[in-house]
Amino acid sequence: MSESPKPASHPENATTLPVSTLSDLERSNWDQLLAGTEQPDSPFKTMTIATCTQRGADARMVVLRGVDEARKYVWFYTDSRAEKVLQLEAFPMATLLFWDSGQQLQLRLSIETRLHTDDYIADEHWKKLAVSGRKAYLSEPVPGSEQPQPYPGFPEQLADKLPSAEESEAGRKNFAVIECRVLAMESLHLSRSGHTRACFQYEPESRMMWLAP
Ligand SMILES: Cc1cc2nc3c(=O)[nH]c(=O)nc-3n(C[C@H](O)[C@H](O)[C@H](O)COP(=O)(O)O)c2cc1C
Repeated sequence: MSESPKPASHPENATTLPVSTLSDLERSNWDQLLAGTEQPDSPFKTMTIATCTQRGADARMVVLRGVDEARKYVWFYTDSRAEKVLQLEAFPMATLLFWDSGQQLQLRLSIETRLHTDDYIADEHWKKLAVSGRKAYLSEPVPGSEQPQPYPGFPEQLADKLPSAEESEAGRKNFAVIECRVLAMESLHLSRSGHTRACFQYEPESRMMWLAP
């Protein structure tokens, strides 16, 4: 009797690592990140950001909004009143984690963050954000604050419509860009024919190395 087909995410179906040198692997990893900002169905479109807190650690998903391979930066957006912003102000070092089950590829980025709210960097990103994206910054209650009933994250009158460009400007005061300087990137590719783990360090000096998985 033939075995039932394995799901696409099964390690046996994972592609073999498409590159053989550290430099090619590094370029391929950055290409994957870039694809996360350009291709709506890319598994690298979202990531987990893990932060330090006074009490321990915290983590949540965010959308990858920008990638600069040459300078080793990535960006994401958040509400400036969110808990993660307070955590990053107190502890700017954090980790970004990506997982592509199709390719069986994990990317782990050690980052140092910088918050942009009232400067030209935040202005530039805000200008490029569509009203559908701006809607998320129109919440009157502070994110994470207790509510007497379910609250959708935007004013009631916008339940089934988008704000006008003019209405969306009210969200600018709540908009924050988190700039992430990548200090190191680690990739892990899972395969039954052998896992591949490598580290690309950028700070304090550039180094790349294979690691035992
Ligand atoms: C797929 C997905 C994408 C998300 N993208 C973002 C994002 O880009 N920015 C953001 O602030 N929150 C995003 N969230 C919500 C966060 O995961 C989190 O619930 C929220 O920001 C509050 O986090 P905090 O209290 O730790 O600040 C996303 C959640 C999911 C499930």
